[in-house]
Amino acid sequence: MFALLRFSIVVAPRLGGGLLALAVLSAVTSLAVAVLIGQVVGLTPAFVAGGPGAPSLTAFSLLVAALVLVFTADGVLTVLSSMATTRLTYDSDEVVYRAISATMTASPRIGHLESPAVSDESRRARGIGNRAIWVGLFPLAELVRSRLLAIGSAVLVGVLFSWPAAALLLSTTALVEWWSARMSAVEQVTWRSGTRTGREADYAYELGMGTAAKELRVFGFAPWLMDRYVRDWRAGMVPLWRVRQVATLRTMVVYAAHLGALAFAVWLLVRDVNAGLLGLAEVATVLTALLRLAMSANGVAAASMERATSALQSLYRLPGTALAVREGEHRSGEHADGKDATVGAWAARVAGPAVVDPPRLPSGPPEVRLEGVWFRYPGSDVDVLRGLDLRLGAGEAIGLVGLNGAGKSTLVHLLAGAYRPSAGRVVVDGVDLAEFDDHELAAWQRRLAPVTQEFLRLPLTASENVTLAEPPDQKRLAAVAVTARVDAAVATLPRGWDTVLERSVTDGGDLSGGQWQRLALARALYAVNDGAGLLVLDEPAAALDVRSEAELVDRYLKLATGVTSLLISHRFSVVRNADRICVLEEGVIAEQGSHHELLEMGGRYAEMFELQAARYVGGDGDA
Ligand SMILES: Nc1ncnc2c1ncn2[C@@H]1O[C@H](COP(=O)(O)OP(=O)(O)OP(=O)(O)O)[C@@H](O)[C@H]1O
Ligand SMILES: [Mg+2]
Repeated sequence: MFALLRFSIVVAPRLGGGLLALAVLSAVTSLAVAVLIGQVVGLTPAFVAGGPGAPSLTAFSLLVAALVLVFTADGVLTVLSSMATTRLTYDSDEVVYRAISATMTASPRIGHLESPAVSDESRRARGIGNRAIWVGLFPLAELVRSRLLAIGSAVLVGVLFSWPAAALLLSTTALVEWWSARMSAVEQVTWRSGTRTGREADYAYELGMGTAAKELRVFGFAPWLMDRYVRDWRAGMVPLWRVRQVATLRTMVVYAAHLGALAFAVWLLVRDVNAGLLGLAEVATVLTALLRLAMSANGVAAASMERATSALQSLYRLPGTALAVREGEHRSGEHADGKDATVGAWAARVAGPAVVDPPRLPSGPPEVRLEGVWFRYPGSDVDVLRGLDLRLGAGEAIGLVGLNGAGKSTLVHLLAGAYRPSAGRVVVDGVDLAEFDDHELAAWQRRLAPVTQEFLRLPLTASENVTLAEPPDQKRLAAVAVTARVDAAVATLPRGWDTVLERSVTDGGDLSGGQWQRLALARALYAVNDGAGLLVLDEPAAALDVRSEAELVDRYLKLATGVTSLLISHRFSVVRNADRICVLEEGVIAEQGSHHELLEMGGRYAEMFELQAARYVGGDGDA
């Protein structure tokens, strides 16, 4: 409860503080109601009988009015508190999702995005049911109130009637809550061990609902995928349900003990009344207080609080886990750094360092050198690159060819600094990328204009797909669209550049695969216009028809004027115009030279080129 209180005060200081104050105030008014009921009931016989010593009409009316007032205030406070709670849960939900996404996107590197440990931790931070913290905040104020009320009522019962009865009921109340929280903790352990299965289920769900939805339906795979989703999801949940069932049965036993204690206390009360030990006022107050005490045992709230606290711990641990993965020292899901993270430190970390102006890297086409670069993906034991040396001279247009899986796209990730080489260096204008801090790395990435192999298809407007975060400059937009030959396709969209490229949106539109690819090319050219100095085209012709491909090949050198460029393809015809062509094989640059030099060399390039050319000439190729 305290962890959640602290969290809500960090998240929303005024709202969290106000809610706490409301809870305290509401506990006080509730106690006052019990006392006033006692007073009213106690004075009623004397007032009705009249005579000397009886309360005056004014005094009695004032007392009743006070009771009504306090009772109403209690109700109003409850309403206010539930309004504040709703607001708090929405604010905190935003903070939780912002914190998770900030952790995932904080770094310009990407290794942590592929880490199972980070995915599991982020899933746990969302908790059982995906919104554990949200759900846990709902009963927070009520729990604070009911605990204060329980203590206050126990004191009333003790002072007016019996300390043992008070102690007994207070301890069974505590027992109910402690037990519910414990059962919830047991449930957490079971759920956590199933987060992996749950993650797989999530993945199947996203696949079926998101990116692959169309193809899956067209080919009739949707039911198969949904079966799989349900199966994985159940596999993750069934053990949880089983644990919950057992826990519920046991919790009922504890509740029964609590009710037994109440019955015992009431029996004691009746006995004392019989013996003439208690006046009417005391009986009324004690009975009200006893009932309040009994009702304040809130096992359900305690259980969801436990779930929320556990999710909160994962939320605090998440940045540390991601950082550990990024720093490459990661071994297990639990990272020591996260355990002692204070809320303040966590909040500061999630907010990220103060935004500073991007450091000034020299503008213009950069010189990039890969020196003795070795690389294997995290968690893999295959070296994709094995001591590769490659120099992209400033302003040079380099072609890179290689078979499927040779490591061409991997090389792009390394150039961008998204991954660090396992050994060797990537040097930009004389500076090792490994020496860049996150800001410098981000600035370097802004100087890259990539058309990656799996380029972005954003469900945003056509113009946003080209300009991204930049405010669109219509003239430049039109110019790059012509160069990338996507202008005609955009013109046919229902709302031109303002068409959202997503069919499910009203007035939305869609493009063909090749048109999307040209749009991606336009995006890269727009970035070049904006000062990006390194143009990288990874299989830019994969979805283009023969004529478009030929056009791209012809225009390539013009596209690449004034920038350093890297054109990647396994189609030899595409790269033939480059200043220099490099052949990537077995993790190194096996051959390099101009198209003609390489053909004369009669090596691997020549062999592969002839093989491809023969298929075209022979007419059984795809042309
Ligand atoms: N995220 C990843 N984790 C582990 N291995 C990966 C990852 N991405 C790629 N690989 C592996 O690295 C190797 C090189 O892949 P890469 O995508 O760089 O090849 P490529 O030359 O671009 O091939 P293609 O011509 O098919 O695009 C492949 O064996 C691939 O399986
Ligand atoms: Mg590739």
